[in-house]
Amino acid sequence: MLSFFELLLLLLSCLFTLKYLKVIWVTRRLPPGPIPFPVIGNLWTLSFKLHPETLKKLAESYGSIYTVWLGETPLVVLNGYKAVKDGIVSHSEVLSGRPVASFLRDLLRGRGIVMANGHMWKQQRRFGLMTLRNLGLGKSVLESQIQEEARCMADLFTAKKGEPFDPSLILDHAVTNVISAVVYGHRFSIDDVTFKELINCNHCIVENIGSTWARMYDAFPWLMKHIPGPHQAAFRHMNYLNQYTKKEIEIHKQTRLSEEPQDVIDYYLAQIEKSKNEVDSTFNEENLMSVITDLFGAGSETTSTSLLWALLYMVAYPDIQHKVHKELDIVFDGSKLYYEDRKHLPYTNAVIHEILRYGNIAAVGIPRTCIKDFKVRNYSLQKDTMVLANLDSVLYDPQYWKTPNQFNPQNFLDSDGNFLMNEAFMPFSAGSRVCLGEQLARTELFIFFGTLMRSFSFHLPEGVTEVNTKYVYKMTLQPHPYKICAVPR
Ligand code: HEM
Repeated sequence: MLSFFELLLLLLSCLFTLKYLKVIWVTRRLPPGPIPFPVIGNLWTLSFKLHPETLKKLAESYGSIYTVWLGETPLVVLNGYKAVKDGIVSHSEVLSGRPVASFLRDLLRGRGIVMANGHMWKQQRRFGLMTLRNLGLGKSVLESQIQEEARCMADLFTAKKGEPFDPSLILDHAVTNVISAVVYGHRFSIDDVTFKELINCNHCIVENIGSTWARMYDAFPWLMKHIPGPHQAAFRHMNYLNQYTKKEIEIHKQTRLSEEPQDVIDYYLAQIEKSKNEVDSTFNEENLMSVITDLFGAGSETTSTSLLWALLYMVAYPDIQHKVHKELDIVFDGSKLYYEDRKHLPYTNAVIHEILRYGNIAAVGIPRTCIKDFKVRNYSLQKDTMVLANLDSVLYDPQYWKTPNQFNPQNFLDSDGNFLMNEAFMPFSAGSRVCLGEQLARTELFIFFGTLMRSFSFHLPEGVTEVNTKYVYKMTLQPHPYKICAVPR
């Protein structure tokens, strides 16, 4: 006769065996991949991270479409431009979902834009795009704000008097002020305590999203939700961002002039009123808070990290820096730089594109799900299957780049020195979930980078002879902290 404990153990073993058999059964119809272990799937093989290097090695063994198991959930990874195009470009609508059980989803509460799904996502995304346009994106209004931030940024660089300094805070400040003006309607001074705390929250959240703890959470949300660990800090930081946004919303409610909306909060409050009698409206204060934190979060770290890479590459490749200076000196004679000017600055434009390609800030991208059954190549994927378009594999695809593993603006230039776009340029991803802030980011990068390059030449501090261009893997790929000297030209 079995004791109660032995019976429980037997039952649990049967349950695990059945679950594992189910996993093995499901693998038959999925693209190939490493054999999953019971319970943890391939998390061990992945070193508990979706690291670009690991995904690249797996592609060498299993081909351009393969499956890895995050615990008991399969993730189909698309590698290289062709596979990614066959997925998120050719089946843009079908691959427009986001996973419903994941760390990022719980962090962002499945509302707003980045992790929302279905009708809510469509309404919020459409509103976001329209409001950016209403606030002057693509027109001179927003551009002049960026130019003003660029001027302030250059003043802060000048104040360093050519001495070595870490540029990250100043770059964070400029970029955060642009998105802050868009969403909150105001900027911060660089010494503002709230600004520093908001930046700190963003950094901690990004670091957490890329961590082992987050991958454990993706695999075992029911468990990780309740146990302590560094991942809980991300929820505390998100709460700070939400509380700050809530305060801003309250201030806007009292001070806004409904006929003259100034920022995203104003536009959103007006939209809530406008659609209050529509049964399927998803415009409410909960979503307002999520849209604001989504835009603020997605719109700051990514762009400032790109600029941080930009300056590092300029000291790492002084000949390229010299060519940018030369082009700016010959072509540019105005006092302010406009996004439109990129058309006359093909080399500078190519350098910026190469920074986005080679820096590969968004690493492997954000997983999607298919919203209905669909077929990619010969594989039939069921509704809700998680799919990752590995952006790293596209930006470094050897079939599409002249020198995939080398920083080289020639990747974006023809033999006559004209700017040449490349279809595998996907740092903002593609399809219906393509980065909502792409145009804003491109405008900022051009004006900020161009202004800095016009005003300064960048050097290594005295005695430093080597530049470390290797990345630190967080959710984004970031340079190691560094110091440079900005010498006025
Ligand atoms: C260099 C700067 C940036 C890069 C490299 C970048 C890259 C990306 C990538 C790869 C995605 C994921 C798309 C997918 O699911 O496949 C994304 C999504 C998103 N980005 Fe950006 N981004 C940048 C700047 C911005 C800015 C400035 C904003 C804000 C205005 C922004 C707002 C968003 C939003 C809201 C999403 C979610 C879109 C959705 O799920 O529908 N991004 N971005």
